[in-house]
Amino acid sequence: MSRLRAAAETAREQAYARYSGFRVGAALETEDGTIVTGCNIENASYGLTMCAERSAIGAAVTAGHRRFRRLALVSDAAEPVAPCGACRQVLAEFALDMVIESHGADSTATWTVAELLPAAFTGAVLP
Ligand code: THU
Repeated sequence: MSRLRAAAETAREQAYARYSGFRVGAALETEDGTIVTGCNIENASYGLTMCAERSAIGAAVTAGHRRFRRLALVSDAAEPVAPCGACRQVLAEFALDMVIESHGADSTATWTVAELLPAAFTGAVLP
């Protein structure tokens, strides 16, 4: 198993998934090879739940990283899960060319952020 996937699996152990019971772990590989992780953090006000991907982005940016190469994703589902729409937009802010590898029990799905969010709205159009 890759170091990146192993880091995502370790992060999944920390998931605060009190309401759904569905744990997700994410591990970002930065441009300099650093690995930064995140897990989902649920809330009694369900809509305030933070996904693992956005937790990882928050931790990475807080640690001074803004350029990313890869994101490994693991969950409690047998099949690879795809990032939700909100996370796609947040990932697109930093790296449309980042590769997302989502691991299920027996298979891995791979996409770029641009593939998951075609015609993305980005800061390039803002004055
Ligand atoms: N979740 C993630 O953390 N990432 C995803 O890509 C899909 C969904 C979380 C949110 C919530 O805590 C739980 O999974 C069920 O939706």
